[in-house]
Amino acid sequence: MSSIPAVSPLAAPSLRGPFRLAIALLVVTTITILWGAMTTSTGSGLAFLDWPLSDGKLMPERSLTTLPGFFEHFHRIFGALAGMLSLGLWAWVEYGQGLQVERATRLLARGGLVLIIVQGVIGGVGVLKGLPALTSVTHGTLAQLTLATFAVLAYQLSERHRRTAPVTTVAPGTGRRVVAIGVLVLVVQTVVGAIARHTNSPHALWTHVGNALVVFFVATIATAFAMGRLGEVPGLKGVCQTTALLLIVQIALGFVALLIRNSAGKSPGNVANLGTASVISIHVLLGSLLTVLMTTLGAHVYRATRRPERPPAGAAA
Ligand code: HEM
Ligand code: HEM
Repeated sequence: MSSIPAVSPLAAPSLRGPFRLAIALLVVTTITILWGAMTTSTGSGLAFLDWPLSDGKLMPERSLTTLPGFFEHFHRIFGALAGMLSLGLWAWVEYGQGLQVERATRLLARGGLVLIIVQGVIGGVGVLKGLPALTSVTHGTLAQLTLATFAVLAYQLSERHRRTAPVTTVAPGTGRRVVAIGVLVLVVQTVVGAIARHTNSPHALWTHVGNALVVFFVATIATAFAMGRLGEVPGLKGVCQTTALLLIVQIALGFVALLIRNSAGKSPGNVANLGTASVISIHVLLGSLLTVLMTTLGAHVYRATRRPERPPAGAAA
């Protein structure tokens, strides 16, 4: 007998549009991150010394005739497009007629919009200041938090969220803490990776490699625990299995990145090493996707382990 009662999909049709927009936003933000990582890996961050325009134009010639110009300018374009989609989604969720959205969903739409605007400004200020490590590390880390925010927002707008009923076989809140620790160690791993990338510090690099072991253990415990205690929640096993698989690929790719990276780091000459730049950029991208998966798993565990709603007073026994 399943312990999960069926839940009526309240207001399902009206949230389909915002959900689709949230998915489009996730896709464009993911492309922006990959393109940003290519910009860093090829040392193209200062291809244009001005901002918000590039060479004083919306569409500069060098963005189509040089590789550094192509990476940096199209990164800005994808970033701006993601910003516009985020603005549209926030307006839809906040003011959409007849939409039944939770307060948390509205807060996530607002938070995501603020994050992406801050992200664009940090990217721009970084260019104007000649890419100091502080702005580059903050920009690299905040990118992942922005993507994770959009992922949880998409989850909140999904059919899966509406249909997930509270599990009655475990205590409310079960598994939340371990998954939250999983998210935390992934964020720490990103910060240390970003410091290694933007300062070339061997100390940060080896801390990043060592912390991979911590990430591995914590993520394995979190996913195993979630599967063991909440495995009956629809969709949860799939997220756990994908996280575990991606983690193994990411660690293997990390070793490849360690072997092939050169200490010139993100200097402009690296534009000649497109193969190396692509492998390292995929490592950055998979790092984002792992943070997204662990955060979405957290949101799903949170949803499934909420307290069951009490029947209204006076309802027939
Ligand atoms: C629209 C305005 C933006 C500008 C002007 C901008 C600028 C830049 C620059 C110059 C770099 C290279 C930094 C370096 O090598 O030190 C970069 C990298 C990057 N950007 Fe942006 N960016 C913008 C928006 C965004 C957005 C919206 C995101 C994602 C939410 C994003 C994510 C990234 C990522 C992930 C990197 C690579 C970081 C790394 O590999 O360490 N950017 N950006
Ligand atoms: C446990 C999972 C791991 C995650 C989630 C992860 C994530 C990341 C991220 C997000 C970055 C870039 C940060 C940024 O600039 O924004 C990075 C950089 C890096 N990671 Fe990892 N990483 C992991 C494991 C590893 C392992 C095991 C190794 C090596 C054995 C490794 C080697 C590297 C290297 C060499 C860089 C810097 C690349 C460069 O020089 O530009 N990573 N990692």
